[in-house]
Amino acid sequence: MATVKDTIHRVRAYVAAGHASKSGLAVSAGLTANALRGLESAEWNPTAETLSKLEAAISGSTVVDVPQDTALAGKRILLIVAGGIAAYKCLELIRRLRERGAAVRCVLTEAGARFVTPLSLAAISGDKVYQDLFSLTDESEIGHIRLARDADLVLVAPATADILARMAAGIANDLATTALLATDQPVMVAPAMNPRMWEHAATQSNIAALEGRGVSRVGPAAGEMAEADAWGVGRMAEPADILAALEAFFGAGGRLRGRRALVTSGPTIEAIDPVRYIANRSSGKQGHAIAAALARLGADTTLVSGPTEQPDPPGVAVVNIESARDMLAACEAAGPSDIVVCAAAVVDWRVAEAAPRKLKKKDRKQSQTLELVENPDILATLSRAGPGRPRLVVGFAAETESVIDNAIAKRAAKGCDWIVANDVSAGTGTFGGDSNTVHLVSAEEVEDWPTLAKEEVAERLALCIADALEGAP
Ligand code: C5P
Repeated sequence: MATVKDTIHRVRAYVAAGHASKSGLAVSAGLTANALRGLESAEWNPTAETLSKLEAAISGSTVVDVPQDTALAGKRILLIVAGGIAAYKCLELIRRLRERGAAVRCVLTEAGARFVTPLSLAAISGDKVYQDLFSLTDESEIGHIRLARDADLVLVAPATADILARMAAGIANDLATTALLATDQPVMVAPAMNPRMWEHAATQSNIAALEGRGVSRVGPAAGEMAEADAWGVGRMAEPADILAALEAFFGAGGRLRGRRALVTSGPTIEAIDPVRYIANRSSGKQGHAIAAALARLGADTTLVSGPTEQPDPPGVAVVNIESARDMLAACEAAGPSDIVVCAAAVVDWRVAEAAPRKLKKKDRKQSQTLELVENPDILATLSRAGPGRPRLVVGFAAETESVIDNAIAKRAAKGCDWIVANDVSAGTGTFGGDSNTVHLVSAEEVEDWPTLAKEEVAERLALCIADALEGAP
């Protein structure tokens, strides 16, 4: 039987994960539209009947429990949203901060309001959005000094070149900069701007001045910019990285510190001759995201990857290989690990003897037969019992039918501890796509996860791994 606390937590998680709005869930549970108005409040005290209706409405749903033991639980974040294209990422950031139990209050600059509406920030943060320095209502409800000091941390995301310059100079000409000047709380910035603006000596000296005064910084990251053909350092850090920086700031980072992790990612390519090869459509997005997530939790992480377009994840040692045999050799050369995650799409067969020279059309008969031999199974090899076996070995199962049954069978056949099973049948868009719908299969249970961005799958998996290793020597 679920306890009242459990049910309330599950309902909050369901709404926070965006499966339904509060009113939508209330109506589908057969309640009045505003029955969940007080959901976030500690005083919310629903009747047993309301709870059982809500339990019925969300049962069978694929809600994954959101982690409650993060350092963000109970923290109050004042989020200053300045005017940059990355402002849209704030909505995702706020949702994920709230999932972790943080309260978020937003200040939106005039330029920021050109990129994101106060209405969407208010809806996602569940709080009023503050915009105007001289608004009498704001001043009567909460003065800007209190606004600035009532938070545990002030986060500026996106932090444009302009707001960084005003912060560095101590200018207070709007609510955001006034709050920043008035606060006695820690400040973190997530810069986001065009790479030339980031590199400019003025911006660099502003950042150095701010860091010298104790402001912490996350990003910017390298990558493609919103402007066509612009590439460089200037993208705002991803919400997951900002979250990790905040967790590290508040002291929850490092749950995997002292652990060694090995991740395989991407396709392998198996030569037919010097120019042709057998490969597959794996993008490496999921495997790279897992390596990044494990590293963010403090694991000493090695990523062995086939050819992909993915940038090397920060803080991860990357070994680039091509064939399955090279991948196995690189994994073995990486030394003993506590955690192994095999996310690579290893090509099962290789050509028995790759031709040393390009096969010519004239060499070929009407039809050409390639003799294939089986590649080593890296996951099965690393799962083998023995003194050096990793504490936890996780494999992937990309299936197009009977996804869970096949995954359960695969777990046993490979000898690994967990299988992350995903449906890659045509139309799911998993291969190369940005999201993934997975089931986590362990010896004890099958956990169904909702469709999540690959980064979120990675993060949840890393947290599950941290939970499983908690207390282990
Ligand atoms: O047997 P199948 O290819 O479906 O198994 C998938 C899982 O096994 C993935 O975790 C993949 O990384 C791993 N694998 C491997 N070496 C192989 C084949 C698969 O590590 N040769």
